Amino acid sequence: MSTTDTNDTPQPVKPKIGSYHRHLLVCTGPRCSEDGASQALFDSLGDKFKASGLNNGPLRVKRSRVSCFAACKGGPIVAVQPDGTWYYNVTPENMDRIIDEHLCNGRKVEELVFHQAGEVQAD
Ligand code: FES
Repeated sequence: MSTTDTNDTPQPVKPKIGSYHRHLLVCTGPRCSEDGASQALFDSLGDKFKASGLNNGPLRVKRSRVSCFAACKGGPIVAVQPDGTWYYNVTPENMDRIIDEHLCNGRKVEELVFHQAGEVQAD
């Protein structure tokens, strides 16, 4: 019989998150956009998602900030997962297009894509 009582060890609390269809990651780091444009973009997403019905339901999009994707130019930069689609120059107007075309209707906004997971990149 063991003398160590493992029941006294505090166990980590298992986290929970709501179900979602896609996850939008926004870089709010200092090197890919200036003047807080990326943070402003992130801050706008709650209202934009609500207006588009992406805040809940089967197409719900979870949003998160990251500090750097190691891309560091042409921002604001966002990544749509699990699609593996990376967008640059995500102005407010371009974000509206991404929401309407990609997040609501499943069609990438090709001219704003700078990387697509699983595709060979031509230099
Ligand atoms: S700071 Fe945004 S990708 Fe590096």
